[in-house]
Amino acid sequence: MCGIVGYAGTSPALLVLLQGLERLEYRGYDSAGVALIENGKLYVEKKVGKIRELIRSLWGKELKATTGIGHTRWATHGEVCELNAHPHVDSKGEFAVVHNGIIENYRELKEELQRKSIEYKTQTDTETIAHLISLNYEGDLLKAVLKAIKKLKGAYAFAVITMKEPNRAVAVRYGSPLVVGIGKGENFIASDIPALLPFTKDVIPLNDGEVVDLRPDGFFIYDFEGNLLTKEIMHVPWDTLSAEKGGFKHFMLKEIFEQPRTLGDTIRGYISRSYDIPINLRDFRRVLVVACGTSYHAGLVGKYWIERYAKIPVELVYASELRYSDSPIGDGDLIIAISQSGETADTRFASFAMKEKGAMLLSIVNVIGSALDRESDYSLYTHAGPEIGVAATKTFTAQLAVLYALAVSHSEERENLMENLLKVPHLVEEVLSEAEKVKEIALKYAEFKNAIYLGRYLSYPVALEGALKLKEISYIHAEGYPAGEMKHGPIALIDERMPVIAIAPTDRVYEKILSNIEEVLARKGKVIGVGFRKDQKLKDLCQDILEVPQIEENLTPFLTIIPLQLFAYYIADYLGLDVDQPRNLAKTVTVE
Ligand code: F6R
Repeated sequence: MCGIVGYAGTSPALLVLLQGLERLEYRGYDSAGVALIENGKLYVEKKVGKIRELIRSLWGKELKATTGIGHTRWATHGEVCELNAHPHVDSKGEFAVVHNGIIENYRELKEELQRKSIEYKTQTDTETIAHLISLNYEGDLLKAVLKAIKKLKGAYAFAVITMKEPNRAVAVRYGSPLVVGIGKGENFIASDIPALLPFTKDVIPLNDGEVVDLRPDGFFIYDFEGNLLTKEIMHVPWDTLSAEKGGFKHFMLKEIFEQPRTLGDTIRGYISRSYDIPINLRDFRRVLVVACGTSYHAGLVGKYWIERYAKIPVELVYASELRYSDSPIGDGDLIIAISQSGETADTRFASFAMKEKGAMLLSIVNVIGSALDRESDYSLYTHAGPEIGVAATKTFTAQLAVLYALAVSHSEERENLMENLLKVPHLVEEVLSEAEKVKEIALKYAEFKNAIYLGRYLSYPVALEGALKLKEISYIHAEGYPAGEMKHGPIALIDERMPVIAIAPTDRVYEKILSNIEEVLARKGKVIGVGFRKDQKLKDLCQDILEVPQIEENLTPFLTIIPLQLFAYYIADYLGLDVDQPRNLAKTVTVE
C-alpha cells in the first residue's frame, strides 16, 4: 500500500523518482508526488490521479536537484485530494516526508503538537512525522529521525529529506517494506525491488527497526538506538525486461501468458534431486495454512493435496481472522504462510503471532528477502519473477506448484507424482493457444451484472479464484461457491440473467457437479462449463464451454484456472477498465 522512492546521487533525481514511481504504481495509485532539494530549497509537486498526471504537471520544468523522494498513494487517512497527497512538509516547509503504513497514535500526537501551536494542513497521519522530525532537528537529520520514531506507534516505512542537508535522505522501516539500492556515486531506496531494477540489482532489504542514512557516496544502516549495523548485499537476478509489458496490452495478459515458463521454472526447481524440502509434514500434529486473497485460494488447493499425500489434517484460515483469535496453536503445529509479496501485513502479523506461540513457520513467497521470508523458520520460493498486474495470475499457479511439491515431498510415490507435474507447463500452453475462443465467449457475458462460479473438491478453490479475478478487474459482482452448497440458499439467485460458470473436469465429483448444473438449467440459468476437451456430456448441457486438455484429477486446477483468468481479463478490457490497476486495490497490502 503506497509506494516510496528516494534518491541521493549526482544525476537529476526527478527522472529516477518518476521511473521508480511508475514501477511502484501497483502499490496504490490515487495520487502521487515528489519532493526535491532544488537550489537549496524544498520543491514539492503533487497531483491527484496516476503518475502520468504528476509527469504532466512537471513537464518542461528544468529541475536539476540530485536529492529527492517520491510517493504513490493508496489512501488510508484522509480523502483523495492534492492536499492529502504525499510528500508532506513541516510547518516551516523545511522537511518533506513520504510514508507508507499507518501511524496508529497519530491522533494523540496531533493533539500534543497542536497544543504546541503546530498547525496541521492535512487530514493525514503522515504530517505528524514531518512535524516531529522538524521539532527534534538540531543540525543532524539522522538524529532527529531517531528521536522522532521513539514517539511513533504503528506499522510504517517513511523517507525524509531536508533543505538543511541537501545531499542526504533518511528512511525508516518498521512494519512496511523498504529496500536500499546500491549504485556508484548514487544510492536509492524504494518500497519494492522492481522500482530499483533500472538502476541497480544490488540491494539490501531493511529489517523492521532499521534506519538508513543515504548519501551519494555511501549509505549507513542503523538500529533504532543508533547503533551502526553491517548488512549483506543481495544481488537480484530479475532483469528489467521481466518488469516490462513485452508487447502485451497489459501486464496481466503478459503474466497469464508467461505461465508455461514460470511454471516450468518453479517445477524444475523442486524436481531436481538437489532440492530438498526442508521439513517433513508428517512430523507435525497439524498444519494451519494462513493467507489472504488469491494466496488463500492456492492454500485451499494445497489443503486437499497435503491431506491426500501427507495424511495430516490441514486447516485454512484467513490471516486477518487468525491474528486476534484464541486458536490453540503451539508446539507440534506447522504454519504455512502463503504470500506473493511476502509483505502482506495480515499474513505476516498472524503468522508471526503463531510462531511466537511455539508453532514452526514455513512460508511460500515470491519475493526473496521479503519480510515474511526473513521472519520464517523456512521459506519455499515460487520463482515466478516480478508480478506487476495487481490481479495475481502467474504467482497463483506457481504457488500451486510449490504446494504440490511440498505435499508429495515425503510420499513413496514422490517421483511419479513429480513426473506428472512436468506435463503441466506444456498443457497450460495448449490452453493459452485457445485464448481467442475464450475471448469470443467472454464478450458474450461482458454486459451481465452478476456471475456465480461453482466447483466441488479441487475445483472449489478454482471457483473462488475465478470469481475473485472477475470481480476485482471487471467490477462485475461474482461469487464462488462449493457447487453442493447452491441448494442451501444461493440457488434463489438463479434466473436467466445469472451466468453460472461451472468447473467440471472429469474427476471424482464429476457426476455430482453435472447434477448441480442441471439444477441451474432447470431455473433458466446460463451455464458456461469448464471441462475436458471431448467431454460431450458437458458440452451438451452447457450454453458455452471453456475447454482444457485431459489431465489427472489432482492437477486439474493448474489448467482450469487459465481460461478463467483470460475470461476475466477479456471482459475487463472490453469494458475499457484499467486491468492492471483496478480501482480501490493495491498489489501489496501493508495495512491490517
Ligand atoms: C488478487 C490478489 C490479492 C492477493 C492478496 C494477498 O488477485 O492479488 O487477493 O492475493 O492481497 O497478497 P500476497 O499474496 O502478496 O500476500
